[in-house]
Formats: sequence, structure tokens, C-alpha cells
Amino acid sequence: MSDRLFIFDTTLRDGEQVPGCQLNTVEKIQVAKQLELLGVDVIEAGFPISSPGDFNSVIEISKAVTWPTICALTRAVEKDIDVAADALKFAKHKRIHTGIGTSDSHIKFKFNSTREEIIERAAAAVKYAKRYVEDVEFYAEDAGRTENEYLARVIDAVVKAGATVCNIPDTTGYCLPYEYGEKIKYLMEHVDGLSAGKAILSTHCHNDLGMATANTMAGVLNGARQAEVTINGIGERAGNTSLEEVTMILKCHKAIGIETNINTSKIYPTSRMVSSLMNMPVQPNKAIVGKNAFAHSSGIHQDGVLKNVQTYEIMDPHDVGIDDNSIVLTARSGRAALKNRLQLLGVNLEKDKLDKVYEEFLKLADKKKDINDDDILVLAGADRAENHRIKLDYLQVTSGVGVRSVASLGLNIAGEKFEACASGNGPVDAAIKALKKIVNRQMTLKEFTIQAISKGSDDMGKVHMQVEYDNHMYYGFGANTDIIAASVEAYIDCINKFKN
Ligand code: KIV
Ligand code: ZN
Repeated sequence: MSDRLFIFDTTLRDGEQVPGCQLNTVEKIQVAKQLELLGVDVIEAGFPISSPGDFNSVIEISKAVTWPTICALTRAVEKDIDVAADALKFAKHKRIHTGIGTSDSHIKFKFNSTREEIIERAAAAVKYAKRYVEDVEFYAEDAGRTENEYLARVIDAVVKAGATVCNIPDTTGYCLPYEYGEKIKYLMEHVDGLSAGKAILSTHCHNDLGMATANTMAGVLNGARQAEVTINGIGERAGNTSLEEVTMILKCHKAIGIETNINTSKIYPTSRMVSSLMNMPVQPNKAIVGKNAFAHSSGIHQDGVLKNVQTYEIMDPHDVGIDDNSIVLTARSGRAALKNRLQLLGVNLEKDKLDKVYEEFLKLADKKKDINDDDILVLAGADRAENHRIKLDYLQVTSGVGVRSVASLGLNIAGEKFEACASGNGPVDAAIKALKKIVNRQMTLKEFTIQAISKGSDDMGKVHMQVEYDNHMYYGFGANTDIIAASVEAYIDCINKFKN
């Protein structure tokens, strides 16, 4: 009988903290339903006290999914816990995740407190959360830099107060794998409630030094029985441990004898969905889900793989849901083929929306021969801009070598039409100058990234932009076969998000 590792997915909480990756409630529900299909045990749905949007998302996700436990984050503060309990009221299985910083620097600089007082506050928060739910998880923030002996006292106190799971975050991504493994081992050996099975330990590792997965595995090998992860490893700074890596390590290394409930064939569609909804590209060499993860280019490798795939491949791409025989859609593909492909990617559309996406699909197929999964996901999300106040009406640009570029552009602002033209040192510069003549605000373009989605000169270009306005940074996205248009769309996307 193998042991079971519970998978706690925090894509919608820790992952969603990435600037520019925020999802609306409808998108979060879509991701949560996909996580349910993937087989995660716990979905951390948000931090309800942090904003009305987060509060509402926890409520709606609780209604939308059935099997996974829905978890809400709080500080060790009664008001936070009250609000989290309220947000979880529709969840079929619910968990409150409360906690406090335990490293000396958190105790001194963040709380201006003492070690003893932090233990009291931690235990009091767990007891308070127990008034609402049976399943209470405690996190010892910055546990990675907390002295093991003191950490064991904290964990002992919260288990006695009723915590069912104790999360040991390496918040800053500082630990070395052997240190993190020893920390988990130390706690397993020194906290009676853990050996008595009253609570389990959870890993929560950040990737600042590229060791998140290694640290998580060290934790699991030393007794942790829950791993906190995100899809594609997204998260603030260098991100969190990635779900696909931990899951596939355990699947490939059967001798470890630890299983998860993850249906690995849903990994790739989930990765594409999260990347597309969050406008967050996956690096091509990312383990398991990167575009090159299974692509062999050297002659020796190709020869070996053709003779027998096991020569160079330790896992079958089909195991993670990569369908290399997938039908590439073209202008002749029907609505049913599009619907089927979208479903495989985890997107289920109502008839009306499918009709609209199909219309856009045919327009794109006129410009581009083969339509791939990324194109389809962009089309399925295109209506996110439908309710925007400012829309691009038309754009005409002339540019070339030895001449200044000139752009004329029309905007529709809340139903009213505006036009302007401008010249610039390139087509994007000219188009943005024309745009700024109409939207006359003190805004500055801070970052501008253009990326082709797959290959070919007829490909769609994706543009990410960051625009600073009124001391805030706004993130925008545009996708178009015309990269100048995609750039203007991304800029307009930023402007539509301005708070005033
Ligand atoms: O990294 C961290 O310490 C966290 C906690 C809030 C769980 O995300
Ligand atoms: Zn974290």
C-alpha cells in the first residue's frame, strides 16, 4: 500500500498574486472546475478579507465545485477568520488557512513582538477558526528561516489547538533541499501530535533560488503529506513549486511509493488554460509543460527516440495530455471540431458563445493556414474586451526603411468616435502617439514584450504591456496577426483598467 500525498493547489491565491495576472471571477471558476477535473485535493480560492473580488470568488468557487476542499487564507486575526468563514459558507468541504510569521525577523520587524506572544497568537487563531470549521490549516510564515526548535514549539501549540494541517512555508525560497528536508524530519520527530496522526505537515516552497521542487520533494521524502503547488509554477517573484513537476516525479519514481490523486492526462490542458487566461507565457524549456519539453532536436537523440522512445524519454507525452496527433484546425474545420478541441483544452462554451468564437475562428483561418491550441484559447478569451469603454475602431500604418512611420487611428470611446494621426520612429511609436492624442493623459509605457504564439510568418503575435499612470502600474494584453494592432490593443487594454 502506498502513501498518499495531498495536492493543495494555490494557483488562484499565491499564483494569482503575480502583477498583471489577475483573473475575474468567471475565469477563476473556469480554472477551479479544471482543477477539480485534474483531481486536486484542495483549492486555495483566495484571501477573502483582502478585497470584495476575492471574497466573491471564494463564494462562487465554493458553489461551482464539489469534490475538492475549498480553502480560504487569513492572517491570525479574528476579523479575517470571520470573513473567511462567511466566504466559505457554500463550500461542501471547507478549510480555513490561518497563520503568522515565525522567523525572528518577522517577529521583531513585522509584529514588534516576542516568540512567546507569537505562539499564543498562533494557537488563539487556530482555536478561533475551529469555531467555524473542523479543518484548519496553520501556516508558519517564513518557516524556512525559523529555528527548528522554536518552530516545533509553534507547531506543537497549534496542533494542540486543533490544527489538522501545518504548513511549513519556505516563503523566501532560501532553504537548501537537505535543510528543508531536515526541518520536516525534525518536526515529525519532535511534535507528538504529528506522530500521533492528529495533523499532517504541508510543504509550501518558493522558487527564488530555483529549488522549489527539490525542496518540496525533500519535505515529502521526510514525512510531509501535503504539497502546496501552482500550475506552471506561477507565483510572485520566481513563483511556487509547480504541480506538474511534483506529480510527475512521483509518477515516474514509483519506488518512492507515494501517490497523488492527479489525473495526469489533464496536466497539459490545465497548463494551457492557466497560461492563456493569465496571459502568462510558459517558458519553452519548462519541465513537463514547456513547448520543448518533449522535442528532441539533436540527431543522436532523434535517432534513439525513433528506434525506441525509452532511449531518451522518461515519460510518455500522452501521460501528461500532450496530444501530438491533435488535429490542426483549418478554415474547413466545422463548429463541432472547434467545440471538441476547446473541450479538450478544458473550455466548455454555451452555444451562443461558441457561435461567436467560431465566427472569429473563420476570420482568423482566412489570415492563417493552421490554427493551433494557443490561437483557439486566445479566441475563446477575446470577449474579455467586449465591455471595454475604449475600443480600437481602425488602424492604418505606413512604414518602411528611410521614411518616418505614420499612423492614423480611430477609437470608439463609450460609443463616440475619435480619430487622430501621428508620425513616429517606427509603426508602434506612431500608433501610440496617435492614441495619446485622443486619450490625453500622463501615461508612460514601462514594458513592452512581443511574442509570436507558435511559428510561421502568418502567426498571431501576443503583446504584453505595462503602462504607468497616476502612480499605478497597469498590465495589458493584445493578440493579433498584425503585431502593430496587437500592440495598440495591449495599450488600450491598460487604459481600460485605469481607476480614474
Ligand atoms: O509563502 C508564504 O509564506 C505564503 C503563506 C501566506 C502561506 O504564501
Ligand atoms: Zn507563498
